[in-house]
Amino acid sequence: MSSQTPSSQTSAGSPQMDHAHAAQIADQFTRQAADFARSPALHNDEALKRLVDAARPRAGDVSLDVACGPGTVVMAFAARIAHATGIDATAAMLDEARRIAGERKVSNVTWHQGDVYALPFADGSFDIVSCRFAFHHLQRPADAFAEMVRVCRSGGRVVLCDGVVSGDPAKADAFNRMELFRDPSTVEFRTLDYLAGLYGRHDLPSPAMEAHRLTVTMNQLVAHAFPENDDREGLHRMIWDSVEGDKLGMLAKRDGDDVQLSYSGVILSAVKR
Ligand SMILES: C[S@@+](CC[C@H](N)C(=O)[O-])C[C@H]1O[C@@H](n2cnc3c(N)ncnc32)[C@H](O)[C@@H]1O
Repeated sequence: MSSQTPSSQTSAGSPQMDHAHAAQIADQFTRQAADFARSPALHNDEALKRLVDAARPRAGDVSLDVACGPGTVVMAFAARIAHATGIDATAAMLDEARRIAGERKVSNVTWHQGDVYALPFADGSFDIVSCRFAFHHLQRPADAFAEMVRVCRSGGRVVLCDGVVSGDPAKADAFNRMELFRDPSTVEFRTLDYLAGLYGRHDLPSPAMEAHRLTVTMNQLVAHAFPENDDREGLHRMIWDSVEGDKLGMLAKRDGDDVQLSYSGVILSAVKR
């Protein structure tokens, strides 16, 4: 078990989020927090188990989940290890995390409000450092990843899970345009090669990879979205019109007046040397 005491130590030369982007993140995730915390798709036990298993958890481990949102991943780890910590920029998300932990009587968890670019923990504080579904919101993913690696101890595991774009550049562009419209705090979804390449930049071994799929329907997605100018009709049209030729690369299939959609993602994991 490693020490996980918060400290003022952060990596040099890693400034925090820029102000305009920070405002967008706060706006979107304050509005999304309540729905996000109740989304069945985001709390799928089997998908969570695969992510936790990828970290090879041991009973005495301590973990950190960055950009933890309502603490879904933190609580999945907490059930299997000694202590799990979550950090997120958005207070409303952390309020949900505290509420859910309280309702479930989970006590081996700690919550911090903070920025992934400047984690308030000493080097090597955690046995496991994870992040799920947040890298597409980051303007500087390599800097955030460097922070995750810094606070992981040698022999610890770094686990990254996010959506990835189609290998077809036209579909990748169309998908990112739709996602940016659906949630203006999105920066971009990257390719599998880009995310896996982050590990190589930090002298980590090539990560183990597992495909990850998240299925939703268009009507669910639109109902819970806060799109540009609150234009839900525009978002609906964008998705409906994409079905012919699967223009977003989401295996789109019409189902009456709805559309079945599938986000393609990956779980990457490696042991820090
Ligand atoms: C799509 S949610 C994912 C939440 C959670 N990881 C999950 O899988 O359920 C993205 C989260 O990233 C957080 N976030 C975005 N940029 C951040 C940053 N620079 N530092 C900390 N949190 C950030 C947002 O506040 C939001 O809660």
